[in-house]
Amino acid sequence: MTESSKGRLRDAARIWLRRLPSPIQARLRRNAYRMPAAVRQLFGTSDPDYPLGTVRWGSLRRTTPFSRSWGYDRGTPIDRVYIEQFLTKHAADVRGSCLEVLNADYTQRFGGSRVASSDVLDIDTANTLATVFADLDEPDSIPPERFDCIIFTQTLHLVPDMRTAVANVWRALAAGGVLLLTVPAIGRHDARKSFHHDRWRVTKTGVEWLLAGITDAPADVTTYGNVLSCAAFLYGIAAEELRAEELQVFDREFPLIVAARVVKEHAP
Ligand SMILES: C[S@@+](CC[C@H](N)C(=O)[O-])C[C@H]1O[C@@H](n2cnc3c(N)ncnc32)[C@H](O)[C@@H]1O
Repeated sequence: MTESSKGRLRDAARIWLRRLPSPIQARLRRNAYRMPAAVRQLFGTSDPDYPLGTVRWGSLRRTTPFSRSWGYDRGTPIDRVYIEQFLTKHAADVRGSCLEVLNADYTQRFGGSRVASSDVLDIDTANTLATVFADLDEPDSIPPERFDCIIFTQTLHLVPDMRTAVANVWRALAAGGVLLLTVPAIGRHDARKSFHHDRWRVTKTGVEWLLAGITDAPADVTTYGNVLSCAAFLYGIAAEELRAEELQVFDREFPLIVAARVVKEHAP
């Protein structure tokens, strides 16, 4: 059978499928993975330019990454590009009394002269930069109503009880304050026996659910990443090794990070 007649047959089969009642279509799609590849392709979920067996793996055909340190040893880790893009977008929120975890790098970089005071939170008492020592896993462990901006990047997924951690940072915001949060949706698992031990990965729905559990304030929750940037990040490939336009495709089904901005409204 020629390629064009195969294509015509596929098109005809797809038209027939689309005429079926929606529940039957949905059931067939759900079970498509059980069917032979040729049948699966009828559902249109597989890229027709790359039928089975034609994908070229090149240098990605390996079971170890190019870097085990998120690509730091090659250039800029891809998650940092997205985190910093999110913070650039909301730089105006970084002002007044600010709190960040581990160090004040983002506070200084994105807040500049808008920052009146800068605090650093950590559980790790060996951190000489920290001014607030607290375990976010413990309820009410940080001072209430104190900060105009909390930069809470790449930390939530380390805390055993993420709900308690979110409640803590929310409580620490002053009225009118802004929470800028990012969390990994995918990435190498850090298993160091320290305070950097990864526990969770979080989806957009998960972040929305966590925030809805503590406030009615509307949260702007967004995802950064696509299947290429996620795969590259897992391999330890640095941002400089991808094209800008490849990094800037945001496919909500393949997030690398989830980011949220929430404002704690003034009491009426
Ligand atoms: C990976 S760093 C993330 C912060 C950094 N600003 C960033 O953007 O990557 C994680 C920080 O969270 C701290 N941490 C881990 N568990 C914690 C907890 N339960 N309470 C407070 N801080 C915690 C770690 O000690 C570390 O300083």
